[in-house]
Amino acid sequence: MKAFAIVNLKGGVGKTVTAVNLAAILATEYQRRVLLVDCDPQANATQSLLPPGEYNTLAGLLTIPDAYYDDLLYRSSIRGLDVLPADDELRNLDVDLLEGERPRLTALRDLRDAIAEDDAYDVLILDCPPALSPACAAAIAASTDVIIPIKVDAYSVRGMHELTAQIDRLRRIYPDVHIAGCLPTVWYKSDTVEQGEALLRQHAPCKVFRTHIRRSPKVDESTWTGEPVVSWSPRSGAAQDYRAFAEELLGKEGDHGAEV
Ligand SMILES: Nc1ncnc2c1ncn2[C@@H]1O[C@H](COP(=O)(O)OP(=O)(O)O)[C@@H](O)[C@H]1O
Ligand SMILES: [Mg+2]
Repeated sequence: MKAFAIVNLKGGVGKTVTAVNLAAILATEYQRRVLLVDCDPQANATQSLLPPGEYNTLAGLLTIPDAYYDDLLYRSSIRGLDVLPADDELRNLDVDLLEGERPRLTALRDLRDAIAEDDAYDVLILDCPPALSPACAAAIAASTDVIIPIKVDAYSVRGMHELTAQIDRLRRIYPDVHIAGCLPTVWYKSDTVEQGEALLRQHAPCKVFRTHIRRSPKVDESTWTGEPVVSWSPRSGAAQDYRAFAEELLGKEGDHGAEV
């Protein structure tokens, strides 16, 4: 089973927008049974896919040994897309770590194995926080493919090496984790962005996806509606690009894509 972790140590680079839209596309256009796991205490993916309410969340899974995953899954309004929610309890895990309590770093990997054994979903998407927190490390450890959304500016491009080095450290423990590539997001036509993208494509320490995601005002608009931009504004540049990205990722263009 494929498990895509959407990772960048920076905030505001389009991780959540990528996670939510990729999840929606795989569920609706590819008829995959998708579970989106929200690993960020800011819980933006949860808020965009589930109505406000009280939920059992990932923090429980990471702290309670043998937690039963069925109690943590919620249906979204998109057919085929379920959510394992987050809340700000996840922040306490960082504090617990300082106090000597160890969150279960294999909890999400165990969840992936249990889901595969039960044939409950076809694909997992893990939306990560902008820090290598216990939840983020658990998400990377559970993934088969890491996708790195990146806004093309000098800080981000330089930060790539640090990020891939940190992922490599985890890969020494979990060698089946692989970096699928980085995905330029919030792209717009300008000399700065185009030159930055060219530099990224030359020097990135990993593959850079051919597709980039255009900046589109419809994305911000969609965050108010509780709908991914691919359904809120299917013809917007960002929606078209996310569909092209899914196609590239799944290898429908004769590339060595990820069999999902
Ligand atoms: N392609 C895009 N076009 C315009 N705005 C975008 C795009 N992708 C993301 N954004 C906006 O950028 C902000 C950060 O995106 P988000 O996915 O929450 O980032 P992260 O999860 O990395 O912190 C949000 O306000 C979102 O609406
Ligand atoms: Mg986010």
